[in-house]
Amino acid sequence: MARKLAAGNWKMNGSRAALDALEALADSAGGAAEVAICPPFPYIALAADRARGIAIGGQDCHAKEAGAHTGDVSAPMLADAGATLVILGHSERRQDHGETDADVAAKTQAAWAAGLRVILCLGETLEVREAGRTLDVVGAQLDGSVPEGATAENLVIAYEPIWAIGTGRVAEPAQIGEVHDALRARLADRFGAGVAGAIPLLYGGSVKAANAAEIFAVPNVDGALVGGASLKPADFAPIVAALN
Ligand code: G3P
Repeated sequence: MARKLAAGNWKMNGSRAALDALEALADSAGGAAEVAICPPFPYIALAADRARGIAIGGQDCHAKEAGAHTGDVSAPMLADAGATLVILGHSERRQDHGETDADVAAKTQAAWAAGLRVILCLGETLEVREAGRTLDVVGAQLDGSVPEGATAENLVIAYEPIWAIGTGRVAEPAQIGEVHDALRARLADRFGAGVAGAIPLLYGGSVKAANAAEIFAVPNVDGALVGGASLKPADFAPIVAALN
């Protein structure tokens, strides 16, 4: 069984003052499910100092350790700042920055080398879903983005259908279940059933307190990667509670 995880992706939101959320969420971190918050880079170290049981993560990292890459942040820097995980391959990175599966795989290796756990994101566009190609596309993303060496400790997969992100439109439980079952099977082919069964599979896309319990009841869903509803403790804490 995979350990359950509720991770908040603040994206390009938040402030120094918004880190008060960490204290407000401290009680949520005491249950069976792990709780993580991934704030923007400038707040990682401050967040790690105030985390009290909540894991802190980055939202991206460079594939290299250091060098002439203006504006980029390396995996060892994230770890040095107190992060223990990093989101990689989010569809907003793939779309806004042209990240390919090969880029995500290289970043994943860099993150692992720095001791970070990777929340690796996959997901299809509406066009792909309507063409009936979801499993092929998401399966290919998994194959191309996850390098050799995945373990239950260093990898989390987040399935985030692009059409459900920030839209209020949530995938149906059956749609989520179909993709998660396929991802688990594909991971088992590569890494063995034992490892695959223990890699957490998160759903992301308009998760809210009102729909969390239904989503978490889907087999092979081990938690959620939450955007908008992770920004306020009053919205995020009930999602964590639904997972516990
Ligand atoms: O990474 C989380 C995400 O993309 C989902 O965002 O706002 O739909 O929960 P949201």
